[in-house]
Parts: sequence; C-alpha cells; structure tokens
Amino acid sequence: MSQVAMVTGAGQGIGKAIAKELFSKGYTIAACDINLDTGEKTAKELNAEREGNKFFEVDVTRLESLQNVVEEIEGSLGEIKVLVNTVGWDIIEPFMNNTVDYWEKVINLNFKSAVYGCKAVLPKMMERKDGRIINIGSDAGRVGSLGETVYAGTKGGVIAFSKSLAREMARYKISVNAVCPGPTDTPLFRSQPSNNKDALIRAIPLRRLAEPEDIAYAAAGFFCR
Ligand SMILES: NC(=O)c1ccc[n+]([C@@H]2O[C@H](COP(=O)([O-])OP(=O)(O)OC[C@H]3O[C@@H](n4cnc5c(N)ncnc54)[C@H](O)[C@@H]3O)[C@@H](O)[C@H]2O)c1
Repeated sequence: MSQVAMVTGAGQGIGKAIAKELFSKGYTIAACDINLDTGEKTAKELNAEREGNKFFEVDVTRLESLQNVVEEIEGSLGEIKVLVNTVGWDIIEPFMNNTVDYWEKVINLNFKSAVYGCKAVLPKMMERKDGRIINIGSDAGRVGSLGETVYAGTKGGVIAFSKSLAREMARYKISVNAVCPGPTDTPLFRSQPSNNKDALIRAIPLRRLAEPEDIAYAAAGFFCR
C-alpha cells in the first residue's frame, strides 16, 4: 500500500507543487488547506491520475484543528509517513508600519503553524518509530530580508526549531528538516508590492524567480530513504 504524505498549504503555490512531487514518487496525498476550492482542486487533479488522494480542511493556526485532521487522515487514508508544513504568509512593508495584529498573524501562520503541525503528528510517528517532517522556512530566516523583518524572525525560528526537534526525534528514527526557498513565483509572491518584487529579482544571481517545482524537488529529496 502506498504511504501517506500530509501536505499543508496544498491548495496552491509551493504546497501544491510539493503535493504533486510526492504524488509522483508514489505517495498518497492528504491535501490540507483552509481554502476548500483550491484544496479540493489539488486532490481532484491528483485523483485524475491515480485514485486515493483526499482534501482535508484545516486551519494550521489552531492545534486542535491539526490534531483533528491527523485523526481523520489516519482513519481514512492510513498512517502518515510524511508531514510537510508549508503554510506561511507575509506582506512586505517597513517594520515600523507593522501593526500588532499583523505580527500576530505572521507569527501564527509562519511559526506556530509548524510547531502545531509537528505536535499533531509526532505522537503517532514516535509510537511507530518512523516519520519524515519538512518545515518550509525561507531564505529570509537565514540572511534577513528588507521589509520582511518579523517574517524573517519567524522563519529563523522555524529553522532553529527544526534543528532542535531533529535532535530530539533522532532516537525515534524521525527526521526533521527545513527547506528554505528564495523568492518563488507563487500567488503569495505575486500579491506583493511590485517595486519590492523587482528589487528581489535583481538581487538573485540567476535574475529569475524560483518556480514552485524547484522547491518541491528539494523538499521531496529528503524522502528518498
Ligand atoms: N513564494 C515565495 O517567494 C516564498 C519564499 C520563501 C519562502 N516561502 C514560504 O513557502 C511557503 C509557501 O508559500 P507560497 O508562496 O506557496 O504561499 P501561497 O500563499 O501561494 O500558498 C499558501 C497556501 O496556504 C493556505 N493557507 C493559508 N492560511 C492557512 C491556514 N490558516 N490553514 C491552512 N492553510 C492555509 C492558502 O490557502 C494557500 O493555499 C510559505 O511558508 C512561505 O513563507 C515562500
């Protein structure tokens, strides 16, 4: 039987590309998203090629929602072998223009989402002594990014969290890794103010954005063995 990969943010962008890449490697996909239309579309597109994939509605900013969806996935598709925490969000603007509500949203969607996702799947993975977790960070979390200051802080947090959790989980034969994309052509990227977009592209040595598939190849590389 095919192994199950739970991918959050699977409705579009990088999450969708990761879902498709893992699907092409033989995984059954639990496509998780808060957006019913796009999430269902991803599952439908995969099912057109090979049946068995399913959309699950989830809000990654709520631990309970993730815990419920893990139960639903294991009950209907089978044991979750892989979790990819993809959801993230940002609007590029100067730090001093940020509101407290904006900070809350950025911290919840980028950092707490990864913490909650791991907390939700780990009890079962630890029991089975088997599992693979990928958290999607960002280059902003490694080198900083103008106008994405708090976002960069959360992504730096995702990287440090992933490294520390990997140390804790090694004894259970569970791997935890972070993949850190640079600017990537997704609906999120396309929603940013255009002057910042052009500056970002100019700063990339290849003078082009990454495609979501570029990130998906890197993420799926962790599942080879
Ligand atoms: N696009 C880039 O340039 C870029 C660069 C570096 C890192 N990243 C990171 O890659 C990840 C994916 O980014 P993207 O550009 O594909 O984003 P995107 O906005 O295009 O897609 C995000 C998906 O997450 C879903 N989502 C939003 N809130 C949710 C919630 N509360 N619960 C469940 N699902 C929710 C959305 O419906 C959407 O399908 C993020 O973590 C982002 O920070 C992106």
